[in-house]
Amino acid sequence: MSATIQTKPAAAPLPGGASLPRDALVSLRGVSKVFANRVMALSELNLDVREGEFLSLLGPSGCGKSTVLRLISRLTNPTAGAIEWRGGRPEIGFVFQEPTLMPWATVFSNVYLPLRFRGVSRREAQGRVEEALERVGLAKFAKAYPRELSGGMKMRVSIARALVLRPPLLLMDEPFAALDEITRIKLNDDLVQLKVSLGATIIFVTHSVFESVYLSTRIVVMAPRPGRIVAEIPVEAPLPRDEEFRLSAAYAEKCRETSQALHSAMEGMSLA
Ligand SMILES: Nc1ncnc2c1ncn2[C@@H]1O[C@H](COP(=O)(O)OP(=O)(O)O)[C@@H](O)[C@H]1O
Ligand SMILES: [Mg+2]
Repeated sequence: MSATIQTKPAAAPLPGGASLPRDALVSLRGVSKVFANRVMALSELNLDVREGEFLSLLGPSGCGKSTVLRLISRLTNPTAGAIEWRGGRPEIGFVFQEPTLMPWATVFSNVYLPLRFRGVSRREAQGRVEEALERVGLAKFAKAYPRELSGGMKMRVSIARALVLRPPLLLMDEPFAALDEITRIKLNDDLVQLKVSLGATIIFVTHSVFESVYLSTRIVVMAPRPGRIVAEIPVEAPLPRDEEFRLSAAYAEKCRETSQALHSAMEGMSLA
């Protein structure tokens, strides 16, 4: 079912990201990832993430999207290849599909957590927690508990928690996949606004064509077995975007193009 390879030693990293393209924040060069069970999650991936872009990784389950995020955030190491940063590895925010909130703690305490781990006192953290809650539209919910919130609101708390350290790079792994469509559209709209106001670089994993086209400035389409990049689609429409873009011919055309790329990526895949 899964491809296997002979593992190669990791290439030596180049010093200080000197060879990176000028606008690259991080570059993956010939990155492969083979798990202990010999599953080849990624094969010789080359990807430059540009400063300030909203990049979506789009592809079917198992094509290595989460593995790319985990490699970039150093939750796991590449088997071969190198990951290079321009100017050193920055603070990184990570949002997962599940909001993973502490149910016994208030919204404030949940968002405060990363600062608490850094030894920042509650009092010192107050302004930054409030700012993060403001950004996700939950300023009034600091004292609420997760059980009092809808699924969409819990995800907003999770995003606020990722933003509280003001990361220049935000990684989002299918954050809206478990939400109903109306909530998802609203969160997509708000994420576009958030992206514009933050200016941060965002790498967003999804298997929704519509979501990726609406949000992204660039889409990388991936295919499985082994995980690899098969297409790269720029989305030129300027940010912020709104309902007008969603109803435009340009959006429909981009969705068609992206959908075709995804279908060819899945050609030859057996039915799950
Ligand atoms: N810790 C792991 N151990 C073994 N195999 C793994 C592990 N994590 C992921 N995989 C496998 O690697 C491949 C890519 O996984 P993943 O990056 O999670 O894909 P995606 O996020 O695109 O669904 C899949 O075949 C998956 O089963
Ligand atoms: Mg995944």
